[in-house]
Amino acid sequence: MVQAVHFDTVAIFLHWTIAALIVIAFSLGLTLDAFPKAWEHAVVNIHALTGIAVLLLSFARLGWRLGHTVPPMPPEVGPLMRRAAAVTHAVLYLLMILIPLIGIPTLLFRGRGLDFGIFQIGSPFARTREIYGPLTEVHELAAYALIALAVGHALAALYHHFIRRDDVLLQMLRTRA
Ligand code: HEM
Repeated sequence: MVQAVHFDTVAIFLHWTIAALIVIAFSLGLTLDAFPKAWEHAVVNIHALTGIAVLLLSFARLGWRLGHTVPPMPPEVGPLMRRAAAVTHAVLYLLMILIPLIGIPTLLFRGRGLDFGIFQIGSPFARTREIYGPLTEVHELAAYALIALAVGHALAALYHHFIRRDDVLLQMLRTRA
């Protein structure tokens, strides 16, 4: 276990890259219908590839997290807030993995495959509305829950930075104090 005072470059890179990819995947998911019909296949494919990148990087992040301790919270943070932060972080990890995992059958049961540019993976399933309908609902609801938690998480970081004036946010921006 690596004892940390600050997050290292790997943790900081993974944190902000995953955050940006989630914003892109969520925005594309919600605006799919706004694109011209001819673009539909490409936009859903970019959405799916972005989401798969979130999945893979989240596994990498989880691996990093299990092998390192994170910087300690400021001592004045009470036990309830520590618990709330720990639960939020655990649910964020869970959703960052579950949403893309649900997205894969959501895609395949629409009869759509994945286009990686140099190779394609076709769907082994026929388009089945009875299956992809409910999956899409769960996928969407979970995505809203993820965004709500991520906004709460970001507001907590801004509260630490601007109101408490501690270095909780800075720990995720630079590797040294
Ligand atoms: C963090 C990752 C992801 C987020 C935040 C996300 C979010 C969303 C959202 C908000 C929608 C709109 C749902 C609706 O309005 O009905 C959506 C739709 C969809 N997502 Fe994702 N998604 C993610 C990853 C994935 C992945 C990895 C796949 C597939 C490999 C996928 C496949 C789909 C499909 C097929 C749809 C429905 C598209 C359509 O209406 O034609 N998503 N997603």
